[in-house]
Amino acid sequence: MTLENINLDIEYVRSQFPAFEDPLSKDWSFFENAGGSYVPKNVIDRLNNFMISTKVQPYGEYPMSRIAGENMDRATELFSKIINANNKEIIIGGSTSLNLYVLSNALKKFINPGDEIIVTNQDHEANISPWRRLSEIGAKIKEWKFNLNNHELEINELEKLISNKTKILAVTHCSNIIGSINNLKKITKIAHKNNIIVIGDGVSYAPHGFPDVKDLDIDFYTFSLYKTYGPHLGLLYGKEEILKELPNQNHEFLSNDYPYTLNPGGSNHEELSCLIGIYEYLNNLYKHHYANEINLSIRERIKKINLLISNHEEKLANPILNFLSTEEKFNLYGKSSIKNKNRAPTISFTVKNRKSSEICQLLIKNNIATKNDNFYAWRCLKALGLDLNDGLIRISLLHYNTQEECEKLIKTLKKIN
Ligand SMILES: Cc1ncc(COP(=O)(O)O)c(C=O)c1O
Repeated sequence: MTLENINLDIEYVRSQFPAFEDPLSKDWSFFENAGGSYVPKNVIDRLNNFMISTKVQPYGEYPMSRIAGENMDRATELFSKIINANNKEIIIGGSTSLNLYVLSNALKKFINPGDEIIVTNQDHEANISPWRRLSEIGAKIKEWKFNLNNHELEINELEKLISNKTKILAVTHCSNIIGSINNLKKITKIAHKNNIIVIGDGVSYAPHGFPDVKDLDIDFYTFSLYKTYGPHLGLLYGKEEILKELPNQNHEFLSNDYPYTLNPGGSNHEELSCLIGIYEYLNNLYKHHYANEINLSIRERIKKINLLISNHEEKLANPILNFLSTEEKFNLYGKSSIKNKNRAPTISFTVKNRKSSEICQLLIKNNIATKNDNFYAWRCLKALGLDLNDGLIRISLLHYNTQEECEKLIKTLKKIN
């Protein structure tokens, strides 16, 4: 059986997420997934179990404590396998914003006055302002601007910005507004030829399929676990050879104990532990669809799940993109279709002569959960010439969305006059 002829079993998927049966949320089409995803029951069960049985100081000799520590370590180990890293390269912090701020402080070590840092105007602010702030120690900041005609970050523009003084490049794998997938592998290759450290923001990419960080060859990569079916945490991957060299920002006696050196303090124990539930959900999804193929590694299973998910998301998103790009009254930002995962199903638009807030209210009246906002990508919205308060309307899908929900969305959008 080839991968292409297996379709995602959407009923199975939805049966794993209690929110779809909860009285408050069950009658809603949820399209604000780029703001945070629902969680599968495995995650909830893991969290409950930790709180009931093992909510003690971990790493002691007694069973409640030993098991707490084992589960925390297992969660890190599993996530290292999911993204093809090793467990000394995984840092679990409070959020992506926090992780990037802490990282930028540590990387000050490599910056001398006059060194250059490249940031984009397509990123969420989390991967811009920590780097811009390094101007306080003398760094010169250059901005890689996206093309206003097609909203893409173009690599030839990056090449023009690179000089022998460039030390850091911070760039998103996928914009939370435009939705295009940036070719991070190619960007990293160009940067490395010039000895530049690359920091990739995977927050809008990872919910649609966990990346292979070794294949990207990126130096640092970050995503928010609360958008990848987990609790409110952020994961930061860092190449071991660089992490080793960073200054200790934790307790003095931990100075050689990377990656714990990066964050001042540890992770939230119960939330870290329940990340095992994300793995369990994905592995069950894998087994449900590929019962015969049991000998694959975790990373190989993830690759198959990624394809299953992106095929489903592509089928859902393309009719919406097609509708928004062909109807005169809508301004769609980013590509007008998805082909071979060149775009995430994160769809932003405005309506001519109408406030985004009005459109959002219409959607909410029809039980379609979404938001109008700048989504903290305010430099991107500013470049697009949009009102930063009213913002744009964002429809963001995940693999648990259904075709019926998308049809209902289009039907509702057709009512706009
Ligand atoms: C693309 C992108 N990067 C970074 C962030 C910041 O993530 P966090 O809320 O974990 O700080 C977000 C949050 O929405 C985002 O969408």
